[in-house]
Amino acid sequence: MTVAHYIRQVLVNPLSGYYMHGDVFGQEGDFVTSPEISQMFGELCGIWYLTEWMRLGKPEHTQIVEFGPGRGTLMSDMVRTWKQFPHFYKTITGIHLVEASPGLRKMQRAALVQGSTDSDVSRIESKETAGMNPAESITREDGLKICWHDGIELVPEQWSFIMAHEFFDALPVHSFEKTSEGWREMLVDMDDTNENWSIADKMAKLVDTHGGTGLMIDYGQDFAQGDTLRAIKKHKFVHPMTEPGSADLSVDVDFASLKDHMTKESGVTTNGPVTQSEFLQSLGIQVRMEMLLKNATSRPARNNIIESFKRLLDPAAMGRIYKVLAFSKEQPSSGMKKSIEEARPVGFHHLN
Ligand SMILES: C[S@@+](CC[C@H](N)C(=O)[O-])C[C@H]1O[C@@H](n2cnc3c(N)ncnc32)[C@H](O)[C@@H]1O
Repeated sequence: MTVAHYIRQVLVNPLSGYYMHGDVFGQEGDFVTSPEISQMFGELCGIWYLTEWMRLGKPEHTQIVEFGPGRGTLMSDMVRTWKQFPHFYKTITGIHLVEASPGLRKMQRAALVQGSTDSDVSRIESKETAGMNPAESITREDGLKICWHDGIELVPEQWSFIMAHEFFDALPVHSFEKTSEGWREMLVDMDDTNENWSIADKMAKLVDTHGGTGLMIDYGQDFAQGDTLRAIKKHKFVHPMTEPGSADLSVDVDFASLKDHMTKESGVTTNGPVTQSEFLQSLGIQVRMEMLLKNATSRPARNNIIESFKRLLDPAAMGRIYKVLAFSKEQPSSGMKKSIEEARPVGFHHLN
């Protein structure tokens, strides 16, 4: 079995995959992600998409697509932020969540549709979903429709906002080793799969054909690295072959290859990656933190806001190793030369 196939089996095998158990996040779980640290993260991502909607010509219909939404915290913080901008909110045709885990789908429903139960969800089995989770959907009281899919192939083809936060680090990679006979693929046992870059290619194709913009936010570098496969259980590193399915497996994302794949056969433009710290600061995290501090009613609440702010931005914590890559289908120029501020998404103006 290749390392890629091993990772897929360990993480999303329908019977024993790590994510199939349900909640693995937070202090009680195995690891903590940025949206779980503070609401500021999702709110500022929501503002970023809003600025992109304006920069790209305020399309009348917008669909939102998130890959691997975890507990649904990031989407719920973004939706709350968008609701404050009714002119934009009414353009949303639906939220499409690409999620393999039935347990996490339930948590996402609870986060996005408060007071809902599992029986409120409509399920449709079809030829396209044979052998996979059914297509699921639920509509909120405010009319917003939330849908779940097993893969990008099942997402409607429309102008889209795409979000992939800590998704690509969980996707299978192939590992190679230099031997005396040249480069050889590392195997865990026997078999093969080859799906690693196809999701990035399909995201680029969707945006290229139907328009839209997206963010990929992950632990990684803007160049290829050696073997970075690691396993985390209860906030500690363990060996990747220990009790498969009991620990999260991830790899550092190679943003340079992601960009190559996305732009090779599409007219999509990429910007970045920039560090998480640069991205959040350019969106005004300092001002948002000060507002939250003003409204906090207790000392522990204030301390929590300050600690979260530091953790998201500190280069020694999540500020530098987490990177943000933007991609979009640019509008044809109106003939007038755009300023750098108009030409690039917010957070990426300073790049050459
Ligand atoms: C590391 S978690 C990130 C969760 C969330 N984005 C966050 O940052 O809190 C990875 C997410 O991707 C989902 N996932 C992993 N592999 C997947 C696959 N092949 N197809 C669909 N979802 C997948 C997991 O179930 C989980 O929701």
